[in-house]
Amino acid sequence: MIKILNYKYYTFNFNKYVKICVRYDHAISKGDVSLKNFEDIPGPKSYPIIGTLHQYLPLLGDYDAGALDKNALYNYRRYGKLVRENPGVRLLHVYDPVDIEAIFRHDDRYPIRRSHLAMLHYRMNKRSVYNTGGLLASNGEEWWRLRSTFQKNFTSPQSVKVHVESTDEIVRKLVISIKETYSPGEDFLKYLNRLNLEIIGVVAFKEIFDSFSTQELNPDSRSSKTIAAAFGSNYGIMKLDKGFMWKFITTPRYKKLAESQEYLEKVSKDILIKRINFYKEEGEIQDHCLLKSFLQEPNVDLKDIRGMMVDILMAAIDTTAYSTSFALYHLARNKNCQERLFKEILTLLPSKDSNITPEILAKANYTRSCIKESLRLNPVAIGVGRVLQNDIKLRGYLIPKDTVIVTQNMIASRLPQYVKDPLMFKPERWLRSSPQYENIHPFLSLPFGFGPRSCIARRLAEQNICITLIRLLREFQIDWIGGELGIQAYLINKPDKAVSLAFSSRENL
Ligand code: HEM
Repeated sequence: MIKILNYKYYTFNFNKYVKICVRYDHAISKGDVSLKNFEDIPGPKSYPIIGTLHQYLPLLGDYDAGALDKNALYNYRRYGKLVRENPGVRLLHVYDPVDIEAIFRHDDRYPIRRSHLAMLHYRMNKRSVYNTGGLLASNGEEWWRLRSTFQKNFTSPQSVKVHVESTDEIVRKLVISIKETYSPGEDFLKYLNRLNLEIIGVVAFKEIFDSFSTQELNPDSRSSKTIAAAFGSNYGIMKLDKGFMWKFITTPRYKKLAESQEYLEKVSKDILIKRINFYKEEGEIQDHCLLKSFLQEPNVDLKDIRGMMVDILMAAIDTTAYSTSFALYHLARNKNCQERLFKEILTLLPSKDSNITPEILAKANYTRSCIKESLRLNPVAIGVGRVLQNDIKLRGYLIPKDTVIVTQNMIASRLPQYVKDPLMFKPERWLRSSPQYENIHPFLSLPFGFGPRSCIARRLAEQNICITLIRLLREFQIDWIGGELGIQAYLINKPDKAVSLAFSSRENL
């Protein structure tokens, strides 16, 4: 019975029961001698000291250090659903959603991620600015103190809805900017970066960066430098995580990380001082920005808040801009989906001048399934990282505590055994009312991670993308004029070429 439940996922309402069974089936029981060793799991040959690091050497190795997705697909094809690797740590790649679920069901109260190691090192050596490594880099009780304090105003549906109006206003500025300055084929990612800086500035800090103004387009402006520093902070993280020389000397990549962090620290400090003074002078005012709520929290001090502001700037701009780029790419290339979406938008916003409201968003079912489908094909992260806190068994192998797990959701989401026509963009597969609806395993596509450590801003990010798509598609018909868009897998998956669109006004509608 347990086996049957474990290998077929039922979505009807006995999740709790399934959860208990999965837990039971993957936990290690005393005297379980039939288990195979971790080292028996298929994977590349491992040598003493260097482990499997040689695989990343140019010309000699099978992997490309800058192409996580290609390495992951190569591993799956060569070794199967579990792949062992040892690039300095004991690492397991997990592809099957049933196994992915088992791992998350074992996650502890304080799930551990082994990432942002160089950033943690940088922050721990800068105690004048930071108390901790921040939310992205910390683990254990320190992480939970920050998470439980800051998440209150990020996660509830109510706290997100209050930002719909201001976000829509900013997207309207993007529409004007497209009409005035965008030429067909230009890289639209630049515009989406500015849009998402502007949105997070207002939502999180009540700060207007004025990113679309002529003076801010200058590379030396505050908005241009903030966007560059956010990218500079994320860009090197993955390669830095694989190395260690930065512990001893300032390597070029570490220097770039440090300089980028310094700039975000400065921007955050200036805004923080400005807001504190403003609240002092104005007293109690109606203000929904996250920063105001942070300042009212008893469990954090100004260093924690400034650290959180830096994390927000790092985590918000590129992620949302890349996700929106891919959604526009898929819609531009799939005209029938774009037309169906436009029909939905037309019923939601009969007049172009109408405001987008939370009630309208609640009815935007097809828009949401387009976003889901785009994130299935092009998630920002190839998967989720965790460090196991207990021994577990998977597929007859003993997976020891402290193993670093990487769930390979992006690769699995593109495999025909889990999704029909997996490389096709078919939003209908997520729509229960559609004949093309598919009962997809809930742990197959996890673009925002899972559990207490999942993306703190999931609701906000989905809302922002939804508003952007509704407003842009209400105004324009969108065409794709570039080649096939792939990814460059840094820490987050960046489009590998210009996001080349053409916008035609829907003048008469
Ligand atoms: C489409 C946009 C976004 C995507 C796809 C995304 C995805 C993710 C993923 C996959 C994680 C790791 C989850 C895990 O380990 O289970 C994460 C964590 C995080 N995200 Fe996002 N994110 C997005 C937007 C944002 C935005 C807008 C913000 C900030 C305003 C943000 C802030 C964070 C933070 C602070 C964490 C660390 C949470 C923790 O460790 O407790 N993200 N995000």
